[in-house]
Parts: sequence; structure tokens; C-alpha cells
Amino acid sequence: MSISVKNNVFTLQTKNSTYQMKADERRILLHTYYGEKTDDTDYSYLIQMADHGFSGNIAGTENERVYSLDYLPQEFPVLGSGDYRIHCLEADLGSGVCDCLLLFDSYKVYDGKYSIPGLPAMFAGEEAQTLEIVLKDGKEEFYVRLLYSVLEEEDVITRAAVIENRMENPAVLKKVSSACTDFMENGLELLHFYGKHTGERQAERSPLAHGITELRSTRGASSHQHNPFAVLAKPHTTEQNGVCYGFAFLYSGGFCIQAEVDQMDQTRFILGIDDQDFSWVLQPQESFYAPEVCMCMSGSGFENLSHKLHRAFQDHLIRSEWKDRRRPVIANNWEATYFDFDGKEILGIAEEAAKLGVDMFVLDDGWFGKRNSDYSGLGDWYANEEKLGCTLGELSEEVHKKGLLFGLWFEPEMVSEDSDLYREHPDWALTVPGRDSIRGRSQLVLDMSRDDVVDYLYRCISGIIDNSKIEYIKWDMNRSLAAAYSKLLSPERQGEVRHRFVLGVYKLLERIVTDYPQLLLEGCCGGGGRYDAGMLYYCPQIWCSDNTDAVERLRIQYGTSFAYPMSTVSAHISACPNEQNFRTTPLKTRGICAMQGAFGYELDLRLMPEEEKEFVKEQITCFKKHYRLFQFGKYYRLVSPYENKNHTAWEFAAEDRKEASAAVVYTDLHANPKAEYLKLRGLSEELYYRLTRDGEELGTFTGAALMNGGILLPVPKENYDSCQYYLKAE
Ligand code: DGJ
Repeated sequence: MSISVKNNVFTLQTKNSTYQMKADERRILLHTYYGEKTDDTDYSYLIQMADHGFSGNIAGTENERVYSLDYLPQEFPVLGSGDYRIHCLEADLGSGVCDCLLLFDSYKVYDGKYSIPGLPAMFAGEEAQTLEIVLKDGKEEFYVRLLYSVLEEEDVITRAAVIENRMENPAVLKKVSSACTDFMENGLELLHFYGKHTGERQAERSPLAHGITELRSTRGASSHQHNPFAVLAKPHTTEQNGVCYGFAFLYSGGFCIQAEVDQMDQTRFILGIDDQDFSWVLQPQESFYAPEVCMCMSGSGFENLSHKLHRAFQDHLIRSEWKDRRRPVIANNWEATYFDFDGKEILGIAEEAAKLGVDMFVLDDGWFGKRNSDYSGLGDWYANEEKLGCTLGELSEEVHKKGLLFGLWFEPEMVSEDSDLYREHPDWALTVPGRDSIRGRSQLVLDMSRDDVVDYLYRCISGIIDNSKIEYIKWDMNRSLAAAYSKLLSPERQGEVRHRFVLGVYKLLERIVTDYPQLLLEGCCGGGGRYDAGMLYYCPQIWCSDNTDAVERLRIQYGTSFAYPMSTVSAHISACPNEQNFRTTPLKTRGICAMQGAFGYELDLRLMPEEEKEFVKEQITCFKKHYRLFQFGKYYRLVSPYENKNHTAWEFAAEDRKEASAAVVYTDLHANPKAEYLKLRGLSEELYYRLTRDGEELGTFTGAALMNGGILLPVPKENYDSCQYYLKAE
């Protein structure tokens, strides 16, 4: 049993971690332990009870003055309870003031995992156990249901919260976070993933200072700038040693992650939807569902944390029929043509792609409406037959005749003002009446909170899937939300629009994945601006970044790998000089970098010299042969691009340790270079491995030698040189 309850002490056990909370004599739900596996001792004895001054006392504790929510570790802290730290809930129950006090009411334990209506959530069968704890306001019929599911093998605990109004009057929610974890200690470090368009998920680690540290997206998408995944780590934690906690938020809209080191040197960590410009009117008998958080602990460094998260997401989050399959090698025309193409040209590229061994051709932006630039056409999801020179169905048939699968680009959530859709339904855009709109990429955002909008988009997309036989959709989103006003909601409910927008996106995605389970969906948001665990529930792969430069991708993919399985990383080879940063890298290096997940090409294959085409054939053969490693192997970050100026290296090892592939990309050159060694991981000490480098036999070595002694790396022969190792146990 992974959940035990004794005297209102709730102990959640995973294989290697323990999480505990306790409803105390005053019915406050305290948090008492999260860390390496231990027994079910009541750990509340560790809590210091003292009068720390200027910390309020709840009714019944005012005389002793040693009991204050201002420093007690809690599961779901609330504004107005005398706790002045960051909190999960701000709720006005009718007085006009947020003064809720949540007290333990009841609990239940059951087998299996909870799900959340309308929101992504990890799934599991009987191997999971769930604890539900109900808290109730001290005075009002206002409840919070805390949900915890334990995935024992994965060392994962998922959490969500449901706010229930059983009063006779509405409540106004001003902040609802999903999870709080209180640590009775200071000195934790925060590892997070910041970025920008074309530079997503850069790993940054720093000690938490006293006060509040905040990572936030207010953009309506999880964003390029911050990722809704973060790690708390004890100092000196490395890839292979030390205690660290990963927290992934399964949500694709604005979010807020906060850490606070308080006056008593304790650390509080909270994740939830963005509360900036948020408010939600909760009518009597209504519930509000706060999205899920996935927590995972490792006592042996970041590598182990990533392995557990990759496994957990692969087995309990990604649902697609494609999830365990080799992803098609894609040729996408975006960087080959941008908007400037016709049907003949598209078929020309597809023809070449088929000859080289590509599996799928993807027609990117510009095939629909009046869309010859990014100033028009969004929303008009019917083919521009004049531009294509044929119907979409005919084009699809021609692509299929070449032996390729066919995919299409969509940007469903957006509308151009110069479009038939906008002319017909200007009220479908999120614009504030009487005010100038903020445009992004010259486009407006559709009001996805409306069912008529979702229905329209479903009809367009499903019509095309049915009539034009497409096997893949790239689901893009190319701007952030600004002032988000829905014409269907009253002014006091406009604070709900951003969250309702995300719920609408999920509703549309859910309909599509339910009705077309065989469709491969690739998420995208100007590259990796919506790369989050919420999206993975619908899309088994995500376009990692609009930056296709192999060297910059090293950092982006390294950061992405901390939480997200490599099978989800969509990476393509593009032309050189690179279109984003003008760097020239060898084709071989571009291939090695792109073979970390879902592989493809983003260039005009017709323009490649013959010898490059021959090399492309070899790359594709290599990917197809070793895809199980590149997509599903255990991923090892061997040499960090953030720490080593000279080279970056990574490895994929098979679960049974009988096979592995490692790659090295040189990022600097030196005259008279010193020896460099690469120590492999994840092998079996005793097994003998036949080692090849770029196809050349290097001999047979024990796993012990390769992991402890390592490999002597070759000296690079050109800028951004690279090599790829393959090992197989004899
Ligand atoms: C942004 C995407 O990330 C690109 O790959 C491409 O699809 C463009 N949008 C098309 O507008």
C-alpha cells in the first residue's frame, strides 16, 4: 500500500521517497515531510513551536501564542489566515475580504488515479493509489478537495485541488494554485528553464534568497520565457548525486511558480495558474479545478530525476497511438519556401524527400485562405487552390503516391483581420470593445472560451482530415495573449477569460485526439513556446524551437531534457548558413543534434549537392535503425554545453544496457589540444561492447572501461565537428 493513514497522519510512499502530512488537533493540515524514503513516524515532532512575534494566532491559540500559520508548514496555505507568506488560495466568500480558514474535514483513499474534467492529467490503473482530503472553511460551506495520486514505481506523486462552493452566495477566487510544498529548511537551490523565442529552456541554477522568487508567464501560453517545470535541489547536487525534487505543471497557459524563503529560514514552493488579471466567480454548487502538478524526487541527482520523469510521462501522460512508435522522418517546407510556393514546387520537394528515405511530407504555413504572408488568412481553413494549382485532396493524393505520409500546418487559435472569418465574426476575437487591440505577428487571438469558436475550428480541421487524408498536424500558436476580453462574459467575469481560453484549447484538442486517434499531433508555439506537460497529453511531440542551428540547439535540447522525454523533442536539419543566426555547421553535426527524438529536414532537399543527398540517405538509415535509442533510450547528459566550452556530449542507453549511442559536438577549436575523455554511463560493468565511431570499428571494451576510463576523443578537424558512437554488447 503506498498510502497509509494513522491518527490523521497521511503517509504517501513511493519506491524511493516519502511524503507526509498531518491534520493536527486544531484541524490544520500540516505538511510534515517530503524527502528520501523513510517510515511512517509522525514527523510533526520536527516542527518548532515558538512565539516568533508578529505572527497571528488563529482562534483558540491566541493565549499560548506559539501556534501560528505564519510559520507552520502547511499543505494548502490561504490568504487571510494569519500566514503572510505566499499562498495557494485567495477567496472572497462574500464579505469582500479574502479571509478563509481551511480546516480538515474528511478524507478517503482509493485504488487508481483521479482524473480532472477538461484538463490534462496523468493516468494510471490499479497500480496507483489516491488520497482525497477535504478541507472546509471554519464558518462557511466552502470546501477545498486536495487530490494526491501515488505512482509508486515512478517516485511520482501527482496533485490537484478542487474548490467547491456549497454556500448560497457566489465566491470570488482571486488566486488558486494547485500545490504547495513546505520544506522546514533553507539552502535549497532552484534550477529553472528560462528563455526567449529561438532560445527556449536555458538551464539556470541559483540558491534561493530570502524573500520571494517567481517564475511566471502572463502570456496565455506557458511561454518561451519560462517553463512550467522547475527543480529544487540541495546544494552540490550533480547529475549523479544529491537530493532534488522536480515539479511539472500540467498546464499550457499562464502559470506562476513561486518560492519563498521565510523569516525562519523555511522554504515554501507553490505552483499554479497565473493569478495576474485572474478572478473567477464561483457560483453556488460550482467547482473550480486547479490543474495537476507532477512531483518527483531523486536522491541520486538530476540524471535519475530525468529518467523517472521521462518514464512517467511516457507511460502515464502521453496517450497518442504514436507514443511507442518510430516517429516518421519528416520533410517540412517552412525554411525551404516560407510562403512562396505552389503545388508543383511542393511536390518537387516531396519527390526528392521520398527518394532519400523521408517518411512524411509536411506542408507548413501558407496553404489556406489568402495567406501569402503573415498579414492575412488565419481562420480561413480551406485550401488556396489557386496557389496550390489543385485541391488539397489532390495534393494529398500526389504526396501519398510518392510513398509519403502527408501532414499540414494549422494555427487554430488565431485570426487575421484580413480573413473571411474575421469579416464574418469580428466578435470571435479577444478584443476589448472600443479600445485599440494589441496585435502580435499582425494577428488577433480567437476567443477559445466560446463553444461556437471551438465548434467552428473542429468542423474545419475534421473536414480536412476526412476529405484530404492527412496523417499529421503541426498545431502552431504564434502570439501571446494581451488584454483578453470575451464578448460573452460580463465585466466582472473577464478575469476568467485566460483560463477559459486554455480550457477551450484543451476541449478542441481532446475532440481531435478522441475522434482521430491515429493522427500524429505535433505541438508548436513559434517553436517551443508551449512545451509543457499539459500539451504532451495531446501531442506526443513538440517542435522544440524555431532555432534550427545545431549549436544553439545543444543548449535548448539539454534544458528540455530535464523534464521531457526525448521522444517528444522534434528537431530538424536545416540549411546553412543557418537562417536564424547565420552559423555554418557540418551536415553531419546537424544530423547528430537532430537525432535526439523526432527527426526530420527543414530545407529544400532538391538544392542539396549529390554527395550531401547520399549522406542524407545514410542519416535517415541511421535514425531508422537506432530510433529506439534516440527516442526511448535512457538519456544521459554527459557534458553540459553550459559548463564546457569545448564540447557537449550526451548518450542514449537501452534499458537492458546492451546497446547505447553517444554523441559529441565540438564547440571550440584549439591548436595543440590536450587529451579529452568521454566517460559513458548506463552500461553494464561486466559486458563487452563492440564500439564504433561514425561506423568505424574501434574495438571491444568492457562497460567498466568505458564508464570509468572512458573514451579518448578524437581531435576535431573543423569548426563544430562531431562524432557519434554506437556500442553493442557482444
Ligand atoms: C512558427 C513555427 O515554429 C515555424 O516552424 C513555422 O511553422 C511558422 N510558425 C509558420 O508561420
